Amino acid sequence: MADDADIGDYPAGPEVVPKHVAIIMDGNGRWAESRGQPRHAGHKAGVNSVRSTIEECVRHGVNVLTLFAFSSENWRRPKTEVSLLMELFLTALQREVKRMQSNDIQLRVIGDTTAFPEKLQARIRASEEATRNNRRLILQIAANYGGRWDVTQAARRLAEAVRDGDMEPSQIDERSLAMATALGDLPDPDLFIRTGGDLRISNFLLWHCAYTELYFTPTLWPDFDTDEFAKALTAFRSRQRRFGRTGAQLEGRH
Ligand code: IPE
Ligand code: IPE
Ligand code: MG
Repeated sequence: MADDADIGDYPAGPEVVPKHVAIIMDGNGRWAESRGQPRHAGHKAGVNSVRSTIEECVRHGVNVLTLFAFSSENWRRPKTEVSLLMELFLTALQREVKRMQSNDIQLRVIGDTTAFPEKLQARIRASEEATRNNRRLILQIAANYGGRWDVTQAARRLAEAVRDGDMEPSQIDERSLAMATALGDLPDPDLFIRTGGDLRISNFLLWHCAYTELYFTPTLWPDFDTDEFAKALTAFRSRQRRFGRTGAQLEGRH
């Protein structure tokens, strides 16, 4: 959360593991096209990287992993690609929930899921319900998610609370707004990773990435393996997170 009291509690360092990692899993289409395959083959291959990244997060002791699976802008893609992505999401959920149970992983889907087919919505609800008491890793799948949507729906929630007399306008501050976003009381991402070579945020966690360390790699998502994840962690450890302070302050030289 971008609250002053919390900010700066969490420096990087040689041993530090990010508590929350957020990833834009990009490059599936190009991965497939470079092999003369349909784009969908890239999305399918990307599921293996999802699995290995989850395992690595569990192994390293990351608490929260947020994966961008489908953006609010991805509806603009050809209809066939959108429906194949929905299908893949549905089958992956069906298949992976058992694995999440045995690995103590809690699933949360963030985004405006009301736009999805009813069958998928039901599957999402069932998967969240089945894993809700798991504690080892919180896995958030951002689906029909947009950072602007999130801030907007949080503002609407607060406006409704004020209208209903549950809060005063003066109680709207960074903490209450953050709580009303899809992340609620989860910590902001410490490390943001984007694969696929593009250097942009593409409307991902806009509010929450205010002080996140950004890591971009040209590696395409289906090629993002455990070594690639380790490289991202190494880069994170080399960063000095100053949160507005000076380097000298952090090194105790002030
Ligand atoms: C990311 O890969 C997956 C989704 C957006 C669903 P892309 O499909 O964007 O792959 P590229 O960027 O076209 O290679
Ligand atoms: C961002 O990837 C969304 C996901 C990975 C789900 P895109 O490939 O859709 O991003 P832009 O639109 O090219 O920036
Ligand atoms: Mg892309």
